[in-house]
Amino acid sequence: MIFKDKDDVESDKMQAGIKDSILKMLRSREKTINSGEEDKSMTDYLTLLLTAHHESDDNYKLSMQDIIDDCKTFYTAGHGTVTLLLSRVTLLGIHTEWT
Ligand code: HEM
Repeated sequence: MIFKDKDDVESDKMQAGIKDSILKMLRSREKTINSGEEDKSMTDYLTLLLTAHHESDDNYKLSMQDIIDDCKTFYTAGHGTVTLLLSRVTLLGIHTEWT
């Protein structure tokens, strides 16, 4: 048996929570797509990923886990860069002597 310390247990809980909330978002989007409520002219990235999940050709099919991983990558890539950019711009705005 592998021993898990408090941090490992907490980390597992957080991972499960993140997966859960992404799955909720995906299911909700799938519902919108299936109900035909979605505006067909607005084919965003999430819709493209979900369409690929239902692809009949296995070479192009994405698993739900692939989509969850992609969502995590986009979230962290987008969040990290934009928050850093905004905080630097704010600091430069306050400390004009730095420029
Ligand atoms: C100020 C904003 C941003 C900056 C400066 C920035 C910068 C970069 C840079 C330098 C790369 C690496 C490119 C490479 O050499 O491979 C990258 C990759 C990436 N960025 Fe951003 N990014 C920004 C915002 C975002 C946002 C908002 C998202 C998503 C919503 C995002 C998603 C990604 C992803 C998924 C990759 C990996 C692409 C790949 O390897 O195929 N980024 N970004």
